[in-house]
Formats: sequence, C-alpha cells, structure tokens
Amino acid sequence: MKIAILPGDGIGPEITAEAVKVLNALDLKFEMETAPVGGAAYEASGHPLPPATLKLAKDADAVLFGAVGDWKYDTLDRPLRPEQAILGLRKELGLFANFRPAICYEQLTHASSLKPELVAGLDILIIRELTGDIYFGQPRGRRTAVDGHFPGSEEAFDTMRYSRPEIERIAHVAFQAAQKRSKKVTSVDKANVLETFQFWKDVVTEVGQQYPDVQLDHMYVDNAAMQLVKEPKKFDVVVTGNMFGDILSDEASMLTGSIGMLPSASLNDQKQGLYEPSHGSAPDIAGQGVANPLATILSAAMMLRFSLNQPEAADRIETAVKAVLAQGLRTPDIYSAGTTKVGTREMGEAVLKALK
Ligand code: NAI
Ligand code: MG
Repeated sequence: MKIAILPGDGIGPEITAEAVKVLNALDLKFEMETAPVGGAAYEASGHPLPPATLKLAKDADAVLFGAVGDWKYDTLDRPLRPEQAILGLRKELGLFANFRPAICYEQLTHASSLKPELVAGLDILIIRELTGDIYFGQPRGRRTAVDGHFPGSEEAFDTMRYSRPEIERIAHVAFQAAQKRSKKVTSVDKANVLETFQFWKDVVTEVGQQYPDVQLDHMYVDNAAMQLVKEPKKFDVVVTGNMFGDILSDEASMLTGSIGMLPSASLNDQKQGLYEPSHGSAPDIAGQGVANPLATILSAAMMLRFSLNQPEAADRIETAVKAVLAQGLRTPDIYSAGTTKVGTREMGEAVLKALK
C-alpha cells in the first residue's frame, strides 16, 4: 500500500503529521513518501505541483493531502498559485467523485449552528461531481456583447456542460454508496431552468433503474439548500454537479459544528484517491499548534476504507476519534465550557492512545 503524503502549506504540515502518526500505529505495512505541494513546493522549486510530486501521487494507491494556500501568494500569476496544485492533481489523477460526509458527532451537537434536535445523529454523504459542469465547460471568456440587454457592452460568459458518461459514472458511484447505507439517493438539479440539469436528471433516472433496491428522489437545488437547514436528517446520499456540490457541501459542513472535523475523499474509477480535510490552510492559526487534526485523521480513515481496502482499520480510527471526543478533549475550534482545551499534537496523541 503506497501512500503519497503531501502536507502543503499553513496548518497542512501540523495536521498531516498527526494523521501519519495514527497510520503508523495501525500495524499495517505502508510505504509512505512525502513531497512538497502548493506554496511549499513553489518556495522549493518555483512550481506548486512539481513533476516529482505529481509522479509520486500518480504512482501511489492513495494521496493524503494537507492543505495549500496563503494570502502571500495572491499576487502570483494564476498557474503558479498554490491552489493550482489541487486542481492539477484532480485533473491528472482523473478524480471525478468527491465524497463529503457531514456527520454530527454526539458530543458536538451543541457546536452546530442549528438546533441540537435537528442535527443530533446527522450522517449524510454529499457526492459532488468534480471534473465537469460550468467550472470547466468551454467556451468561456470576455467579449463585447452583440445581443442581449446591452449590446456593445463588455460581458463575460461560461459554459455549463455535462456528457452522458460523466453523469453515468457519478450516478453509479452514488447508487453504490447508497447500497451500503440507507438505500436512498437524492439527486440535486435545476432541471426546471437548465437543459444541462434536465439531462442530468434523465441520465440519473436511467442509471437508477439498475439499482431497484435504492430509492431515488430528485430535488431542485434551491429547495435542497432550504431543506438542508430545515430538516437535514431527511437526506442520506446526495449526488449533484460540480457547482451545486461545491456550495451545498460547504453548507452541510456547517451543520456539524466545525470545518476542523470534516474529511473528504476524491476518487477515480480505479479507486485511487486523494484524501484531505475539507478546510483550507488556515493561515490565521498556522504554526501555533492549535489546529484541529481530526478532519485529516478522519480523511486517513476514509483512505483506508475506499482506496486501501482496510475497513477494520478505518473503523478503529473513527472509534478512537469518538472516544477522544467522549473524553472531553477539544481543540479551540470545538471548545465549549466544561471540556478540556488541547492543541494539535495533544489531540493526535490522544487518538493514538485511544487506538491502542
Ligand atoms: P480555511 O478553511 O483555511 O479557514 C477558514 C477558518 O476556519 C479560519 O478561521 C481557520 O482558522 C479555521 N480552520 C480551518 N481549518 C481548521 C482546523 N483544522 N482547525 C481549526 N480551525 C480551522 O479557509 P480560508 O481562510 O478561506 O482559506 C485559507 C487558505 O486556504 C486560502 O489560501 C485558500 O485558498 C486555501 N484553501 C485551500 C483548500 C485546500 O487546500 N483544499 C481548500 C480551501 C481553501
Ligand atoms: Mg468550496
């Protein structure tokens, strides 16, 4: 089992170090190799995704990624910015399925921005398509308008676009994920207005016929945004396109209390995957030893389950995380009165101890 470790910038190295310790404590044979990415790689070699880092990632069964980015790189040309590394990895590895679970841990029910009864026991999975949609559709650009409301004026445009195979493969991923859960998929679209998402709805419906054991519902994205805060527990697996998934997964993440708790996985069709916390590099707290490492540790658990075929080890890590929360240990982002405040390293050590 080959794992590429890409810590990145900001809090990336601090939180990744704790996840690596946890992996090392599992008594499994891993080949782990570390390489710079993002701003750290730019500093070292002038490029956010150097060829050696990309090769390491491509040759690995899985990539454990910390975070990239810092305000100090905002003045660089776009291709040199740290965030290009994550886009490059998604593209080069063909990572089309982004899994973002939103789980509200019992002990953190009160950290949610919603009423405790709405989120207690929440466990939903948002599956976002990652390679298509308006983010990548061509043509795009700026031009002088020849028609519309203001002909002759400057305008900008993007193209929303999905092909049948792109929709089919993400739909299969969603139905198969649902088969292992409560057998319910909600496909989110905007079929009432957009041709792209009428097509999405039609293709998802067709694929759904191959999964008669899974219940399929369709929901417009505006209603989904509303239902996520009104009655989030009525969802199980949510599948949607790149842009709607970007927005809804961030919305769902807030239901759980802290972004410091949320792992993610991005997979290709060979089950090779990139695993990273849902948050960014948190430059405001980098180097202070206070970042919550649990999102990264839980991302390592997802890696064991999805790419490395070690579901028992994944369960062990998740159980250890729950145990540490039950002990009352909290990094500042999830701290509340009556609990014990700890730093990044202490939190990692506590998970290690609970594992054993
Ligand atoms: P962010 O997620 O880094 O931080 C948002 C807020 O959450 C900050 O107050 C931060 O301190 C806090 N936070 C984040 N992770 C935390 C953790 N583990 N423990 C405790 N608190 C935590 O998002 P922001 O500030 O918008 O972006 C900062 C940089 O990160 C930017 O350069 C951005 O481009 C980059 N970024 C990178 C991502 C990636 O590597 N995949 C994803 C999102 C942003
Ligand atoms: Mg986002």
